[in-house]
Amino acid sequence: MRTTLSVIKADIGGVAGHLMPSPQLVDCVQTHVRRHGGGLLTDAYVGATGDDIAILGTHPRGVGDARVHQLAWDAFVAGTALAKEQGLYGAGQDLLKDAFSGNVKGLGPAVAELEFEERPNEPFLLFMADKTDPGAYNLPLYLTFADPMHNAGLLLSPKMSHGFRFVILDVAHTDGDRVIELNAPEDLYDIAALLRDNQRFVVEAIYSRTDGEQAAAVSTTRLHNIAGKYTGKDDPVLLVRTQGGFPATGEVVAPYAIGHYVAGFMRGSHVGPLMPVKKNGTTSYFDGPPVVSCLGFCVHAGKLTDPADAFDHPFWDYVREHVAQKAIEIRRQGFSGAAMLGKDELEYTGIVEKLRALDARFVVRDERLATAAGS
Ligand code: F6R
Ligand code: MG
Ligand code: MG
Repeated sequence: MRTTLSVIKADIGGVAGHLMPSPQLVDCVQTHVRRHGGGLLTDAYVGATGDDIAILGTHPRGVGDARVHQLAWDAFVAGTALAKEQGLYGAGQDLLKDAFSGNVKGLGPAVAELEFEERPNEPFLLFMADKTDPGAYNLPLYLTFADPMHNAGLLLSPKMSHGFRFVILDVAHTDGDRVIELNAPEDLYDIAALLRDNQRFVVEAIYSRTDGEQAAAVSTTRLHNIAGKYTGKDDPVLLVRTQGGFPATGEVVAPYAIGHYVAGFMRGSHVGPLMPVKKNGTTSYFDGPPVVSCLGFCVHAGKLTDPADAFDHPFWDYVREHVAQKAIEIRRQGFSGAAMLGKDELEYTGIVEKLRALDARFVVRDERLATAAGS
């Protein structure tokens, strides 16, 4: 049976700033999906990470289906009405356009979708990240799908010995999708050369080179490319199929033990370590740190199991402590150097305006006059 997984996520309002949606808001989105998704979705799961709400739907309709996208858009519009009623902060923040036009891509919400012929048992992982951007998944995906130091299956499993094909998107190119396809392991250095630059080149999809099946799909939306200015970080979602010819669940989650530094954090303008959090995890310290949750499911005939909370384990408590230390370390240097993002990535215009005003006050010193005055 062919099944499509569609995950569509948006920030439509938060309690006390950008920390979390209200429980009533999550309920409202879930109720809308239940009430209007009959006959369209086979199954659905609605959950939150940080201030974002994600709708995961299963259906047989393929990727980019207008009715599935409309259902999610309408659920977020209904949620926005409640968010306004409750006086939540940033109500409707990610709904950047006034009307739905066939596909939520480009309208604000983040979308990742996978379509496949179901295996007899079909495990997959849903990652939801907040206070960061799609490039946050570059390193973990590289380590999982291309590095035998992190994925033992690349050496041990004959089903993975042909490696994986990476589809990488140039997110700076706003006039259509500019993509490149590269194969691991042959193109390893080229893949690394691109994925090094998390703000420019982003993994969009990964395919098995053994059977051509898609293994991963990332939401690649850049909100500032849609709105023409920064309106928040893009808070990406990721779907990964696991086991068999794909990496094991443990090989996919392993790289998150690094707590690697990503763009985002306070005002979408800083660098902070990515902390793996439990289901419905929130943000706090410095509006962060950037967080990622991971829910594991099996899907059978389109029906989802209850989620397994992959980062709810004593091992990850230890990692969270380590990541908290990394967050405090980088925050000790405030605005200086690597702690704050470069000028082009700042979410707010304050610094750019300041620099413009200061620019007019700079003078080029006349060295001869200075020397004459001194002698
Ligand atoms: C980051 C984020 C928050 C806000 C911050 C200030 O993506 O959403 O860190 O940038 O809380 O919010 P405003 O400018 O809305 O007061
Ligand atoms: Mg927000
Ligand atoms: Mg968010």
